Amino acid sequence: MPDPTPRPSPKALMTWYLDAGVDETIGDEPVNRYAAADAAVAADSAGSTPGAADQAQTPLQQQNPVPQVARQQSAAVGQSDSIVHNACALAEAAESVADLRAALEGFEGCALQKTATNLVFTDGSDQARIVMVGEAPGAEEDRQGLPFVGPSGKLVDQMLASIGLDRDQVLITNTVFWRPPGNRSPTTQEIAICLPFLERLIEIVDPAILVPVGGPASTALLGQSKGITKLRGNWFSYATPRMASPIPATPLLHPAYLLRSPAQKRDVWKDLLAIRQKLEEHA
Ligand code: URA
Repeated sequence: MPDPTPRPSPKALMTWYLDAGVDETIGDEPVNRYAAADAAVAADSAGSTPGAADQAQTPLQQQNPVPQVARQQSAAVGQSDSIVHNACALAEAAESVADLRAALEGFEGCALQKTATNLVFTDGSDQARIVMVGEAPGAEEDRQGLPFVGPSGKLVDQMLASIGLDRDQVLITNTVFWRPPGNRSPTTQEIAICLPFLERLIEIVDPAILVPVGGPASTALLGQSKGITKLRGNWFSYATPRMASPIPATPLLHPAYLLRSPAQKRDVWKDLLAIRQKLEEHA
């Protein structure tokens, strides 16, 4: 009898995966992770004779038992707090960019590390007067272990050249230091885990100007929730408790956005000239 279920062609299936952001294989055999999760839940319920902790529940907890999923989520939140705590301790102990890199190489708290090929930390000069912070490494950055070396990076090089700078005169980094799979945006939690290292990096380099590139970097560093098109062209003050004095910061449109909307290059040109002028004022 013919199979009544229509099956997608292999090409349609590959297209579906690519659209969903799956652009790399990480194993030879497929793994059904739903089955593993179901088995874990089944094992948990089978062995759920009340232990000392369950018996010690207050009457309120007994009336409103915390569902399994909520318990798992609150354990995850607690766990991510302790990861951030650990990241802060490691970052605070670093006295140089090399120390920070070594700390990140030994750090195991960011889920992005499981799928990334390389750590992508900084490029440029540790003594730079400008620190530029993008969003997240892409495929080429992941391959080379360097930030902004793909198509967006080529545009960054041109943007810097337009004001007489090259990438060796600035320090370039991102809000997260490993490539998110399929180039998805980094999550708030992934950014929070990398932030202590990023903040310490800025403290150590102590640049004259900070340039968050794109919306996520502006939100992470400046706490601004407005869209990047509203933030660009404005100056903010960036400070941490360990910095001797605040530094001026100005968000720039992300080059990936410029590649899609070249008409915005005019605004970027204006912003770059403002950066050049601020650099001269702080000479
Ligand atoms: N986009 C980013 O935000 N950072 C990179 O390193 C590359 C592309």
